[in-house]
Amino acid sequence: MKKIKFVCLGNICRSPLAEGIAKNIAYKNNIKIDISSAGTSNFHEGESPHENSQKIAIIHGIDISNFKSKHIKKDSTDLYIVMDSSNKTELIKMGIERSKIKKIGDFGMHGEDIPDPYTFRDLNDYERIYKMIETGVINLFLELNLLQK
Ligand code: 4NP
Repeated sequence: MKKIKFVCLGNICRSPLAEGIAKNIAYKNNIKIDISSAGTSNFHEGESPHENSQKIAIIHGIDISNFKSKHIKKDSTDLYIVMDSSNKTELIKMGIERSKIKKIGDFGMHGEDIPDPYTFRDLNDYERIYKMIETGVINLFLELNLLQK
């Protein structure tokens, strides 16, 4: 089974949403795949997702309230999907093979970064990243032939 890990800085805003969205799509389509997420920092280790990430997930029918922030460790992940270019730099510094690292924005979003939520003001900003992440996950699954058009 393929192991995919979504990665951001804190693992409280973007990558927990990506994990929740990917698990939801996998569940609905009976896709057997190991999905997780982690942060390149330990700033929020053990914490629940940011309340706005939890809220926007619930609005879309996804419950991420039980997730806990994890600091990334090298493991048997096949594919790391990062939210922005700085996440990629951090994984390369850890010695993770470049071929195993892809940016979510490369899947249907012309390489765009998912913005760092620390600049966000309200729930609309979380809705914007929710939609971006959802687009990326669907296009990733299509590219991996896990989903059919
Ligand atoms: P995330 O957002 O990487 O999407 O979880 C952030 C969370 C925490 C910090 C920055 C971004 N921080 O600097 O603590």
